[in-house]
Amino acid sequence: MIHYKELGLVNTKEMFQKAVKGGYAIPAFNFNNMEQLQAIISACVETKSPVILQVSSGARKYANQTLLRYMAQGAVEYAKELGYAIPIVLHLDHGDSFELCKSCIDMGFSSVMIDGSHLPYEKNIELTKQVVEYAHKYDVTVEGELGVLAGIEDEVQADHHTYTEPDQVVDFVNRTGVDSLAISIGTSHGAFKFTPAQCTRNANGILVPPPLRFDILKEIEKRIPGFPIVLHGSSSVPQEYVETINKYGGALKDSIGIPEEQLREAAKSAVCKINIDSDGRLAMTAAVREVFATKPAEFDPRKYLGPARDELKKLYMHKTIHVLGSANKA
Ligand code: G3H
Ligand code: 13P
Ligand code: ZN
Repeated sequence: MIHYKELGLVNTKEMFQKAVKGGYAIPAFNFNNMEQLQAIISACVETKSPVILQVSSGARKYANQTLLRYMAQGAVEYAKELGYAIPIVLHLDHGDSFELCKSCIDMGFSSVMIDGSHLPYEKNIELTKQVVEYAHKYDVTVEGELGVLAGIEDEVQADHHTYTEPDQVVDFVNRTGVDSLAISIGTSHGAFKFTPAQCTRNANGILVPPPLRFDILKEIEKRIPGFPIVLHGSSSVPQEYVETINKYGGALKDSIGIPEEQLREAAKSAVCKINIDSDGRLAMTAAVREVFATKPAEFDPRKYLGPARDELKKLYMHKTIHVLGSANKA
């Protein structure tokens, strides 16, 4: 067993308390490889933002659990070397079983999500409570989820949102002992969050998706004042990346995300963790496609992964400064 403190990592407790009080959200960026990790750490050090490094079970399989642990430890040292020791959390994204959560905790994760949102309510409570009991023995924080996001989540496809029921949150939080709660108020995973038919066109002809359900968020906050809330599926799908990808041979159709102003608004509330993965995927793909199309003779991976890493860093800096408000909070 490796405890996360030995790796120089922190859990989410203090970070979330400060974020809720300060009216900002901590970025939770997913990573699967070295370039993504370098971009996340250098962007967050440069903007002095705390950060949650998020690893899905797919990422764990892709990158290897042992390598991941050393990469997270390396990230802590890398931040120091860059000149500012920001607080870094290593978090399991969408854990789907007690065994997976336990294995991550035993391998040095400082925070885990147990996602029982697709289970019947009582089963979700039972599983979440089991993870909390184990995690808290090691001072590891736990995120639970209530409500189902539309789209694909954990290989489960849901056609419609099942919004979080405000009347359930007090019971869920008290009976499970979770440290934070992911809710469903209209966000969803991936780069295709809305169909054009669900959107309206503004004066400039730009498709605007239906707003998040801030009314539900307010009701939840009333029931559990100051309790840390998490938003999954919070990529904004920057249209310049979609255009670059399509210009250089890609085929992304009607990719629509959550407008950044709405995330900024959410970050001012008890929403203290905002999950972003797809925007990073788009940034990297746009940069790599551009190199492949404009410099077809290039075959050194550093010549396309380098620009992809630079674009990612720019994106993450933009998020901490202009969307989440976490810059200068480390
Ligand atoms: O919510 C899911 C994250 O974007 C991770 O995606 O399972 O393909 O690694 P993944
Ligand atoms: P996006 O697909 O909107 O980036 O959401 C990522 C996420 O919620 C990871 O858990
Ligand atoms: Zn998610």
